[in-house]
Amino acid sequence: MPAGFQQLNGGETVTRTLALSVFTAVLGSLQFGYNIGVINAPQKIIEQDYNATWQHRYGEPISPGTLTSLWSLSVAIFSIGGMASSFCVGFVSEWLGRRKAMLINNLFAFIGGGLMGMSKICRSIEMMVLGRFVIGAYCGLASGLTPMYVGEIAPTSLRGALGTLHQLAIVTGILIAQVLGLEALLGSEALWPVLLGVTVLPTVLQMALLPFCPESPRFLYIVRSQEHQAKNGLRRLTGRHDVGDLLAEMKEEKRRMDMERKVSIPELFRSNVYRQPMFIAILLQLSQQLSGVNAIFYYSTSIFMRAGVQSPVYATIGAGVVNCAFTVVSLFLVERMGRRTLHMLGLGGMCVCALVMTLALALSDSIPPFVSMLAIFGFVAFFEIGPGPIPWFFVAELFSQGPRPAAMAVAGFSNWTANFLIGMGFQSLADLCGPYVFLIFAGLLLFFLVFTFFRVPETRGKTFDQISASFGQRPVSGMMDMDLGLDADKLSTELDCLGDDLN
Ligand SMILES: *[C@@H]1O[C@H](CO)[C@@H](O)[C@H](O)[C@H]1NC(C)=O
Repeated sequence: MPAGFQQLNGGETVTRTLALSVFTAVLGSLQFGYNIGVINAPQKIIEQDYNATWQHRYGEPISPGTLTSLWSLSVAIFSIGGMASSFCVGFVSEWLGRRKAMLINNLFAFIGGGLMGMSKICRSIEMMVLGRFVIGAYCGLASGLTPMYVGEIAPTSLRGALGTLHQLAIVTGILIAQVLGLEALLGSEALWPVLLGVTVLPTVLQMALLPFCPESPRFLYIVRSQEHQAKNGLRRLTGRHDVGDLLAEMKEEKRRMDMERKVSIPELFRSNVYRQPMFIAILLQLSQQLSGVNAIFYYSTSIFMRAGVQSPVYATIGAGVVNCAFTVVSLFLVERMGRRTLHMLGLGGMCVCALVMTLALALSDSIPPFVSMLAIFGFVAFFEIGPGPIPWFFVAELFSQGPRPAAMAVAGFSNWTANFLIGMGFQSLADLCGPYVFLIFAGLLLFFLVFTFFRVPETRGKTFDQISASFGQRPVSGMMDMDLGLDADKLSTELDCLGDDLN
Protein backbone atom coordinates (compact mmCIF):
# COMPACT_ATOMS: atom_id res chain seq x y z
CA MET A 1 0.00 0.00 0.00
CA PRO A 2 1.42 3.39 -0.94
CA ALA A 3 2.61 5.69 1.81
CA GLY A 4 0.03 8.02 3.21
CA PHE A 5 -2.79 5.52 2.86
CA GLN A 6 -4.62 4.61 5.95
CA GLN A 7 -6.83 1.62 6.49
CA LEU A 8 -10.10 2.41 8.19
CA ASN A 9 -13.24 0.44 8.91
CA GLY A 10 -15.13 -1.17 6.08
CA GLY A 11 -11.91 -1.72 4.16
CA GLU A 12 -12.12 1.81 2.72
CA THR A 13 -8.98 3.84 2.55
CA VAL A 14 -8.58 7.52 3.18
CA THR A 15 -6.31 8.66 0.39
CA ARG A 16 -4.34 11.88 0.44
CA THR A 17 -6.64 13.36 -2.17
CA LEU A 18 -9.75 12.49 -0.17
CA ALA A 19 -8.23 13.92 3.02
CA LEU A 20 -7.11 17.08 1.21
CA SER A 21 -10.49 17.56 -0.46
CA VAL A 22 -12.43 17.13 2.77
CA PHE A 23 -10.03 19.41 4.64
CA THR A 24 -10.30 22.09 1.97
CA ALA A 25 -14.08 21.91 1.90
CA VAL A 26 -14.51 22.16 5.66
CA LEU A 27 -12.42 25.35 5.75
CA GLY A 28 -15.76 26.88 4.73
CA SER A 29 -17.41 25.36 7.80
CA LEU A 30 -14.58 26.72 9.95
CA GLN A 31 -15.43 30.23 8.79
CA PHE A 32 -19.10 29.57 9.40
CA GLY A 33 -18.35 28.69 13.03
CA TYR A 34 -15.89 31.54 13.42
CA ASN A 35 -18.45 34.10 12.33
CA ILE A 36 -21.11 32.64 14.64
CA GLY A 37 -18.79 32.90 17.64
CA VAL A 38 -16.86 36.06 16.88
CA ILE A 39 -19.56 38.62 17.50
CA ASN A 40 -20.04 37.58 21.12
CA ALA A 41 -17.06 38.70 23.16
CA PRO A 42 -16.32 42.15 21.69
CA GLN A 43 -19.93 43.35 21.91
CA LYS A 44 -19.31 46.12 24.47
CA ILE A 45 -16.21 47.38 22.68
CA ILE A 46 -17.82 47.53 19.27
CA GLU A 47 -20.84 49.25 20.78
CA GLN A 48 -18.53 51.96 22.13
CA ASP A 49 -17.15 52.43 18.65
CA TYR A 50 -20.65 52.72 17.21
CA ASN A 51 -21.23 55.43 19.78
CA ALA A 52 -18.00 57.21 18.81
CA THR A 53 -18.84 57.00 15.12
CA TRP A 54 -22.28 58.39 15.80
CA GLN A 55 -20.84 61.31 17.75
CA HIS A 56 -18.32 61.99 15.01
CA ARG A 57 -21.06 62.11 12.43
CA TYR A 58 -23.97 63.75 14.22
CA GLY A 59 -22.16 65.57 17.04
CA GLU A 60 -24.18 63.92 19.80
CA PRO A 61 -24.00 60.58 21.68
CA ILE A 62 -26.10 57.74 20.38
CA SER A 63 -29.29 56.97 22.31
CA PRO A 64 -29.29 53.59 24.11
CA GLY A 65 -32.32 52.47 22.09
CA THR A 66 -30.69 53.21 18.75
CA LEU A 67 -27.51 51.51 19.87
CA THR A 68 -29.37 48.33 20.86
CA SER A 69 -31.20 48.31 17.52
CA LEU A 70 -27.99 48.82 15.56
CA TRP A 71 -26.25 46.06 17.49
CA SER A 72 -29.13 43.59 17.10
CA LEU A 73 -29.18 44.42 13.42
CA SER A 74 -25.44 43.72 13.13
CA VAL A 75 -25.89 40.35 14.82
CA ALA A 76 -29.11 39.25 13.14
CA ILE A 77 -28.42 40.36 9.58
CA PHE A 78 -25.88 37.54 9.45
CA SER A 79 -28.73 35.03 9.61
CA ILE A 80 -30.68 36.96 6.98
CA GLY A 81 -27.70 36.73 4.61
CA GLY A 82 -27.52 33.02 5.40
CA MET A 83 -31.24 32.51 4.82
CA ALA A 84 -31.09 34.25 1.46
CA SER A 85 -28.06 32.42 0.14
CA SER A 86 -28.85 28.97 1.53
CA PHE A 87 -31.85 29.04 -0.74
CA CYS A 88 -29.53 29.37 -3.75
CA VAL A 89 -27.36 26.37 -2.85
CA GLY A 90 -29.22 24.02 -5.18
CA PHE A 91 -29.13 26.31 -8.16
CA VAL A 92 -25.51 27.42 -7.73
CA SER A 93 -24.16 23.92 -7.13
CA GLU A 94 -25.84 22.59 -10.27
CA TRP A 95 -24.85 25.53 -12.42
CA LEU A 96 -21.17 25.89 -11.45
CA GLY A 97 -20.48 22.49 -9.98
CA ARG A 98 -19.63 21.93 -6.34
CA ARG A 99 -15.98 22.87 -6.56
CA LYS A 100 -16.30 26.04 -8.59
CA ALA A 101 -19.23 27.13 -6.44
CA MET A 102 -17.03 26.86 -3.33
CA LEU A 103 -14.27 28.75 -5.13
CA ILE A 104 -16.51 31.61 -6.19
CA ASN A 105 -18.25 31.73 -2.82
CA ASN A 106 -14.91 32.87 -1.39
CA LEU A 107 -15.50 36.23 -3.05
CA PHE A 108 -18.26 36.81 -0.51
CA ALA A 109 -15.85 36.02 2.33
CA PHE A 110 -13.33 38.52 0.97
CA ILE A 111 -15.91 41.24 0.55
CA GLY A 112 -17.58 40.53 3.90
CA GLY A 113 -14.34 40.23 5.87
CA GLY A 114 -12.96 43.32 4.16
CA LEU A 115 -16.03 45.44 4.89
CA MET A 116 -16.05 44.43 8.58
CA GLY A 117 -12.30 44.84 8.96
CA MET A 118 -12.32 48.32 7.40
CA SER A 119 -15.47 49.64 9.06
CA LYS A 120 -13.65 51.15 12.03
CA ILE A 121 -11.08 52.99 9.92
CA CYS A 122 -13.81 54.26 7.59
CA ARG A 123 -16.00 55.18 10.58
CA SER A 124 -18.93 53.44 9.00
CA ILE A 125 -21.53 51.38 10.82
CA GLU A 126 -23.13 50.67 7.44
CA MET A 127 -20.00 48.82 6.31
CA MET A 128 -20.13 46.66 9.41
CA VAL A 129 -23.80 45.77 8.87
CA LEU A 130 -23.29 45.14 5.17
CA GLY A 131 -20.18 43.07 5.94
CA ARG A 132 -22.16 40.90 8.36
CA PHE A 133 -24.81 40.40 5.69
CA VAL A 134 -22.26 39.41 3.05
CA ILE A 135 -20.35 37.06 5.36
CA GLY A 136 -23.72 35.56 6.32
CA ALA A 137 -24.39 34.97 2.64
CA TYR A 138 -21.02 33.25 2.38
CA CYS A 139 -21.84 31.03 5.36
CA GLY A 140 -25.26 30.16 3.98
CA LEU A 141 -23.73 28.85 0.77
CA ALA A 142 -20.88 27.13 2.62
CA SER A 143 -23.31 25.42 5.01
CA GLY A 144 -24.95 23.76 2.01
CA LEU A 145 -22.03 23.24 -0.36
CA THR A 146 -19.65 21.68 2.16
CA PRO A 147 -21.88 18.81 3.35
CA MET A 148 -22.99 18.23 -0.23
CA TYR A 149 -19.46 17.97 -1.60
CA VAL A 150 -18.16 15.92 1.34
CA GLY A 151 -21.18 13.60 1.22
CA GLU A 152 -20.68 13.03 -2.49
CA ILE A 153 -16.95 12.31 -2.45
CA ALA A 154 -16.97 10.15 0.71
CA PRO A 155 -17.08 6.35 0.39
CA THR A 156 -20.31 4.90 1.78
CA SER A 157 -18.71 3.41 4.88
CA LEU A 158 -17.10 6.73 5.85
CA ARG A 159 -19.87 9.12 4.82
CA GLY A 160 -21.07 9.74 8.36
CA ALA A 161 -17.61 10.10 9.88
CA LEU A 162 -16.48 12.53 7.19
CA GLY A 163 -19.84 14.31 7.32
CA THR A 164 -19.23 14.94 11.03
CA LEU A 165 -16.10 16.89 10.09
CA HIS A 166 -18.34 19.72 8.84
CA GLN A 167 -19.68 20.15 12.37
CA LEU A 168 -16.22 19.64 13.89
CA ALA A 169 -14.92 22.50 11.76
CA ILE A 170 -17.86 24.68 12.81
CA VAL A 171 -17.24 24.11 16.52
CA THR A 172 -13.49 24.57 16.05
CA GLY A 173 -14.28 27.88 14.40
CA ILE A 174 -16.46 28.88 17.35
CA LEU A 175 -13.69 27.94 19.78
CA ILE A 176 -11.03 29.85 17.83
CA ALA A 177 -13.32 32.88 17.82
CA GLN A 178 -13.88 32.58 21.58
CA VAL A 179 -10.17 32.39 22.29
CA LEU A 180 -9.10 35.12 19.85
CA GLY A 181 -11.93 37.27 21.20
CA LEU A 182 -10.35 37.44 24.66
CA GLU A 183 -9.47 40.99 25.49
CA ALA A 184 -5.80 40.10 25.89
CA LEU A 185 -5.71 38.80 22.30
CA LEU A 186 -7.78 40.43 19.57
CA GLY A 187 -10.89 41.40 21.53
CA SER A 188 -9.55 44.83 22.42
CA GLU A 189 -10.60 48.28 21.36
CA ALA A 190 -7.77 48.65 18.88
CA LEU A 191 -7.78 45.13 17.48
CA TRP A 192 -11.42 44.13 17.03
CA PRO A 193 -11.35 45.00 13.30
CA VAL A 194 -8.56 42.44 12.95
CA LEU A 195 -10.66 39.91 14.88
CA LEU A 196 -13.46 40.31 12.36
CA GLY A 197 -11.12 40.56 9.39
CA VAL A 198 -9.03 37.41 9.95
CA THR A 199 -11.90 35.44 8.49
CA VAL A 200 -10.26 36.04 5.10
CA LEU A 201 -7.23 33.90 6.06
CA PRO A 202 -8.98 30.51 5.73
CA THR A 203 -10.47 31.90 2.53
CA VAL A 204 -7.06 32.40 1.01
CA LEU A 205 -6.05 28.89 2.08
CA GLN A 206 -9.21 27.38 0.59
CA MET A 207 -8.71 29.18 -2.71
CA ALA A 208 -5.13 27.96 -2.87
CA LEU A 209 -6.09 24.35 -2.19
CA LEU A 210 -9.32 23.97 -4.19
CA PRO A 211 -7.55 23.61 -7.56
CA PHE A 212 -5.93 20.43 -6.21
CA CYS A 213 -9.26 18.87 -5.21
CA PRO A 214 -11.22 16.82 -7.73
CA GLU A 215 -14.77 17.87 -8.61
CA SER A 216 -17.38 15.53 -7.11
CA PRO A 217 -17.45 12.48 -9.44
CA ARG A 218 -21.08 11.96 -8.55
CA PHE A 219 -21.86 15.43 -9.88
CA LEU A 220 -19.67 15.00 -12.97
CA TYR A 221 -21.22 11.71 -13.92
CA ILE A 222 -24.83 11.97 -12.82
CA VAL A 223 -25.46 15.64 -13.60
CA ARG A 224 -22.95 16.37 -16.35
CA SER A 225 -22.66 12.87 -17.88
CA GLN A 226 -18.86 13.20 -18.00
CA GLU A 227 -17.93 9.59 -17.43
CA HIS A 228 -14.26 9.96 -18.19
CA GLN A 229 -13.70 12.85 -15.78
CA ALA A 230 -15.81 11.15 -13.13
CA LYS A 231 -13.68 8.02 -13.42
CA ASN A 232 -10.49 10.04 -13.02
CA GLY A 233 -11.89 11.74 -9.96
CA LEU A 234 -12.92 8.41 -8.45
CA ARG A 235 -9.45 7.01 -9.05
CA ARG A 236 -7.83 9.96 -7.34
CA LEU A 237 -10.22 9.83 -4.41
CA THR A 238 -10.06 6.08 -3.81
CA GLY A 239 -6.47 5.45 -4.82
CA ARG A 240 -7.66 2.40 -6.76
CA HIS A 241 -7.28 1.91 -10.46
CA ASP A 242 -10.39 -0.19 -10.78
CA VAL A 243 -13.38 1.90 -9.81
CA GLY A 244 -15.90 -0.13 -11.77
CA ASP A 245 -18.06 -0.98 -8.75
CA LEU A 246 -18.39 2.67 -7.71
CA LEU A 247 -19.13 3.72 -11.25
CA ALA A 248 -21.71 0.99 -11.56
CA GLU A 249 -23.45 2.25 -8.46
CA MET A 250 -23.53 5.78 -9.86
CA LYS A 251 -24.64 4.48 -13.24
CA GLU A 252 -27.58 2.81 -11.57
CA GLU A 253 -28.43 6.03 -9.79
CA LYS A 254 -28.11 8.03 -13.00
CA ARG A 255 -30.20 5.59 -14.97
CA ARG A 256 -33.00 6.02 -12.50
CA MET A 257 -32.53 9.74 -12.26
CA ASP A 258 -32.85 10.06 -16.02
CA MET A 259 -36.27 8.49 -15.67
CA GLU A 260 -37.22 11.07 -13.06
CA ARG A 261 -38.20 14.61 -13.81
CA LYS A 262 -35.98 17.30 -12.35
CA VAL A 263 -37.29 18.15 -8.91
CA SER A 264 -37.96 21.75 -7.97
CA ILE A 265 -38.55 23.06 -4.47
CA PRO A 266 -42.38 23.27 -4.74
CA GLU A 267 -42.43 19.73 -6.11
CA LEU A 268 -40.65 18.48 -3.01
CA PHE A 269 -43.74 19.41 -1.07
CA ARG A 270 -46.34 18.42 -3.64
CA SER A 271 -45.07 14.93 -4.34
CA ASN A 272 -46.16 12.25 -1.88
CA VAL A 273 -42.86 10.52 -2.31
CA TYR A 274 -40.65 13.46 -1.32
CA ARG A 275 -42.87 15.03 1.29
CA GLN A 276 -42.05 12.39 3.89
CA PRO A 277 -38.23 12.68 3.79
CA MET A 278 -38.51 16.46 3.39
CA PHE A 279 -40.59 16.66 6.54
CA ILE A 280 -37.99 14.58 8.38
CA ALA A 281 -35.14 16.71 7.04
CA ILE A 282 -36.82 19.95 8.15
CA LEU A 283 -37.65 18.63 11.61
CA LEU A 284 -34.09 17.40 12.10
CA GLN A 285 -32.79 20.87 11.25
CA LEU A 286 -35.29 22.39 13.65
CA SER A 287 -34.27 19.91 16.34
CA GLN A 288 -30.73 21.23 15.98
CA GLN A 289 -31.60 24.91 16.31
CA LEU A 290 -34.60 24.74 18.66
CA SER A 291 -32.68 22.56 21.11
CA GLY A 292 -31.54 25.87 22.56
CA VAL A 293 -27.85 25.29 22.04
CA ASN A 294 -27.30 28.69 20.46
CA ALA A 295 -28.97 30.29 23.46
CA ILE A 296 -26.14 28.72 25.45
CA PHE A 297 -23.53 29.95 23.00
CA TYR A 298 -24.87 33.48 22.82
CA TYR A 299 -25.59 33.84 26.51
CA SER A 300 -23.42 31.30 28.38
CA THR A 301 -21.32 33.99 30.00
CA SER A 302 -24.35 35.64 31.58
CA ILE A 303 -25.86 32.26 32.50
CA PHE A 304 -22.64 31.25 34.26
CA MET A 305 -22.56 34.59 36.02
CA ARG A 306 -26.12 34.12 37.23
CA ALA A 307 -25.29 30.69 38.56
CA GLY A 308 -22.42 32.18 40.56
CA VAL A 309 -19.54 30.69 38.58
CA GLN A 310 -16.28 32.59 39.03
CA SER A 311 -14.53 33.77 35.83
CA PRO A 312 -17.50 33.01 33.54
CA VAL A 313 -15.49 33.87 30.42
CA TYR A 314 -13.25 30.88 30.97
CA ALA A 315 -16.25 28.67 31.71
CA THR A 316 -17.56 29.73 28.29
CA ILE A 317 -14.29 28.73 26.68
CA GLY A 318 -14.52 25.48 28.66
CA ALA A 319 -17.91 24.90 27.02
CA GLY A 320 -16.25 25.52 23.66
CA VAL A 321 -13.63 22.86 24.42
CA VAL A 322 -16.30 20.33 25.50
CA ASN A 323 -18.09 21.20 22.27
CA CYS A 324 -15.08 20.28 20.15
CA ALA A 325 -14.18 17.18 22.14
CA PHE A 326 -17.63 15.62 21.83
CA THR A 327 -17.86 16.32 18.12
CA VAL A 328 -14.79 14.09 17.83
CA VAL A 329 -16.57 11.45 19.96
CA SER A 330 -19.51 11.60 17.57
CA LEU A 331 -17.16 11.22 14.62
CA PHE A 332 -16.04 7.87 15.98
CA LEU A 333 -19.49 6.70 17.03
CA VAL A 334 -21.54 7.70 14.01
CA GLU A 335 -20.57 4.74 11.80
CA ARG A 336 -20.78 2.28 14.70
CA MET A 337 -23.98 3.23 16.46
CA GLY A 338 -25.81 4.83 13.58
CA ARG A 339 -27.34 8.24 13.06
CA ARG A 340 -30.75 7.57 14.53
CA THR A 341 -29.44 6.14 17.81
CA LEU A 342 -26.94 8.94 18.32
CA HIS A 343 -29.50 11.59 17.51
CA MET A 344 -31.92 10.17 20.09
CA LEU A 345 -29.14 9.77 22.67
CA GLY A 346 -28.16 13.39 22.12
CA LEU A 347 -31.71 14.74 22.36
CA GLY A 348 -32.48 12.69 25.48
CA GLY A 349 -29.27 13.75 27.21
CA MET A 350 -29.89 17.40 26.36
CA CYS A 351 -33.41 17.17 27.72
CA VAL A 352 -32.15 15.84 31.08
CA CYS A 353 -29.41 18.49 31.23
CA ALA A 354 -31.95 21.23 30.47
CA LEU A 355 -34.05 20.07 33.42
CA VAL A 356 -31.02 20.03 35.73
CA MET A 357 -30.04 23.47 34.48
CA THR A 358 -33.51 24.84 35.22
CA LEU A 359 -33.37 23.45 38.74
CA ALA A 360 -29.88 24.78 39.32
CA LEU A 361 -30.82 28.26 38.08
CA ALA A 362 -34.11 28.37 39.96
CA LEU A 363 -32.51 27.24 43.22
CA SER A 364 -29.15 28.95 42.67
CA ASP A 365 -29.00 29.85 46.38
CA SER A 366 -28.99 26.27 47.60
CA ILE A 367 -27.39 24.47 44.66
CA PRO A 368 -23.63 25.01 44.17
CA PRO A 369 -22.56 26.64 40.88
CA PHE A 370 -20.66 23.62 39.62
CA VAL A 371 -23.98 21.80 39.14
CA SER A 372 -25.21 24.27 36.55
CA MET A 373 -21.77 24.34 34.99
CA LEU A 374 -21.82 20.55 34.64
CA ALA A 375 -25.36 20.73 33.26
CA ILE A 376 -24.28 23.23 30.61
CA PHE A 377 -21.21 21.19 29.69
CA GLY A 378 -23.41 18.08 29.49
CA PHE A 379 -25.96 19.94 27.36
CA VAL A 380 -23.26 20.96 24.90
CA ALA A 381 -21.66 17.49 24.93
CA PHE A 382 -24.93 15.73 24.12
CA PHE A 383 -25.64 18.29 21.41
CA GLU A 384 -22.43 17.43 19.63
CA ILE A 385 -23.07 13.69 19.97
CA GLY A 386 -26.17 13.88 17.79
CA PRO A 387 -28.24 16.98 16.99
CA GLY A 388 -25.16 19.06 16.12
CA PRO A 389 -23.49 17.08 13.38
CA ILE A 390 -26.15 14.67 12.16
CA PRO A 391 -28.85 16.89 10.58
CA TRP A 392 -26.32 18.45 8.18
CA PHE A 393 -25.35 15.30 6.36
CA PHE A 394 -28.53 13.37 7.05
CA VAL A 395 -30.41 15.54 4.56
CA ALA A 396 -27.91 14.67 1.86
CA GLU A 397 -28.46 11.01 2.69
CA LEU A 398 -32.26 11.09 2.61
CA PHE A 399 -32.46 12.16 -1.03
CA SER A 400 -31.19 10.83 -4.31
CA GLN A 401 -29.21 12.99 -6.72
CA GLY A 402 -32.31 14.45 -8.42
CA PRO A 403 -34.04 16.12 -5.49
CA ARG A 404 -30.91 16.50 -3.31
CA PRO A 405 -29.94 20.08 -4.19
CA ALA A 406 -33.48 21.39 -3.73
CA ALA A 407 -33.82 19.45 -0.47
CA MET A 408 -30.51 20.81 0.86
CA ALA A 409 -31.71 24.32 0.05
CA VAL A 410 -34.97 23.87 1.94
CA ALA A 411 -33.22 22.23 4.90
CA GLY A 412 -30.60 24.97 5.03
CA PHE A 413 -33.28 27.62 4.88
CA SER A 414 -35.17 26.03 7.80
CA ASN A 415 -31.97 25.86 9.82
CA TRP A 416 -31.10 29.51 9.22
CA THR A 417 -34.65 30.66 9.92
CA ALA A 418 -34.72 28.83 13.26
CA ASN A 419 -31.26 30.20 14.03
CA PHE A 420 -32.52 33.73 13.34
CA LEU A 421 -35.60 33.28 15.51
CA ILE A 422 -33.55 31.98 18.46
CA GLY A 423 -31.00 34.76 18.06
CA MET A 424 -33.70 37.44 18.05
CA GLY A 425 -36.13 35.87 20.49
CA PHE A 426 -34.15 34.21 23.25
CA GLN A 427 -33.33 37.35 25.20
CA SER A 428 -36.96 38.47 25.47
CA LEU A 429 -38.04 34.91 26.22
CA ALA A 430 -35.46 34.69 29.00
CA ASP A 431 -36.61 38.03 30.41
CA LEU A 432 -40.16 36.72 30.37
CA CYS A 433 -39.62 33.26 31.87
CA GLY A 434 -36.52 33.77 34.00
CA PRO A 435 -34.78 30.52 34.94
CA TYR A 436 -37.66 28.48 33.53
CA VAL A 437 -36.75 29.35 29.94
CA PHE A 438 -34.91 26.06 29.57
CA LEU A 439 -38.10 24.16 30.40
CA ILE A 440 -39.36 25.27 26.97
CA PHE A 441 -36.31 23.74 25.34
CA ALA A 442 -36.68 20.56 27.43
CA GLY A 443 -40.23 20.25 26.09
CA LEU A 444 -39.12 20.78 22.50
CA LEU A 445 -36.29 18.27 22.94
CA LEU A 446 -38.72 15.67 24.22
CA PHE A 447 -40.95 16.27 21.19
CA PHE A 448 -38.02 15.86 18.77
CA LEU A 449 -36.95 12.71 20.60
CA VAL A 450 -40.38 11.13 20.15
CA PHE A 451 -40.46 12.25 16.53
CA THR A 452 -37.05 10.72 15.79
CA PHE A 453 -38.08 7.48 17.45
CA PHE A 454 -41.19 7.08 15.31
CA ARG A 455 -40.27 8.67 12.01
CA VAL A 456 -36.54 8.80 11.30
CA PRO A 457 -34.98 5.81 9.53
CA GLU A 458 -31.41 4.57 9.98
CA THR A 459 -29.16 5.38 7.02
CA ARG A 460 -25.83 4.03 8.21
CA GLY A 461 -24.02 1.87 5.67
CA LYS A 462 -26.75 2.20 3.03
CA THR A 463 -26.16 3.59 -0.42
CA PHE A 464 -28.03 6.74 -1.43
CA ASP A 465 -30.13 4.54 -3.65
CA GLN A 466 -31.21 2.14 -0.90
CA ILE A 467 -32.12 5.03 1.36
CA SER A 468 -34.25 6.83 -1.18
CA ALA A 469 -35.85 3.54 -2.17
CA SER A 470 -36.99 3.06 1.43
CA PHE A 471 -39.06 6.21 1.00
CA GLY A 472 -40.33 5.09 -2.36
CA GLN A 473 -38.40 7.83 -4.11
CA ARG A 474 -37.77 5.19 -6.71
CA PRO A 475 -37.99 1.44 -7.18
CA VAL A 476 -35.25 -0.73 -5.70
CA SER A 477 -34.53 -2.71 -8.83
CA GLY A 478 -34.96 -1.77 -12.45
CA MET A 479 -36.41 -5.14 -13.37
CA MET A 480 -39.39 -4.75 -11.12
CA ASP A 481 -40.11 -1.11 -11.63
CA MET A 482 -43.86 -1.43 -11.72
CA ASP A 483 -44.35 -3.72 -8.73
CA LEU A 484 -42.02 -2.01 -6.40
CA GLY A 485 -43.18 1.39 -7.53
CA LEU A 486 -46.64 0.51 -6.33
CA ASP A 487 -45.30 -0.96 -3.11
CA ALA A 488 -43.32 2.14 -2.49
CA ASP A 489 -46.42 4.28 -2.91
CA LYS A 490 -48.22 2.09 -0.43
CA LEU A 491 -45.31 2.35 1.98
CA SER A 492 -45.28 6.11 1.82
CA THR A 493 -49.04 6.20 2.35
CA GLU A 494 -48.61 4.00 5.39
CA LEU A 495 -45.90 6.26 6.70
CA ASP A 496 -48.18 9.24 6.15
CA CYS A 497 -50.92 7.50 8.14
CA LEU A 498 -48.46 6.80 10.92
CA GLY A 499 -47.60 10.49 10.91
CA ASP A 500 -51.27 11.42 11.11
CA ASP A 501 -51.69 9.07 14.06
CA LEU A 502 -48.81 10.77 15.79
CA ASN A 503 -50.31 14.19 15.17
C1 LIG B 1 -21.82 57.37 24.25
O1 LIG B 1 -20.65 58.01 24.68
C2 LIG B 1 -20.86 59.05 25.60
C3 LIG B 1 -19.53 59.66 25.96
O2 LIG B 1 -18.78 59.97 24.85
C4 LIG B 1 -21.54 58.56 26.84
O3 LIG B 1 -21.83 59.63 27.73
C5 LIG B 1 -22.83 57.84 26.46
O4 LIG B 1 -23.38 57.24 27.61
C6 LIG B 1 -22.57 56.78 25.42
N1 LIG B 1 -23.84 56.21 24.99
C7 LIG B 1 -24.16 54.94 25.10
C8 LIG B 1 -25.51 54.55 24.68
O5 LIG B 1 -23.38 54.10 25.52
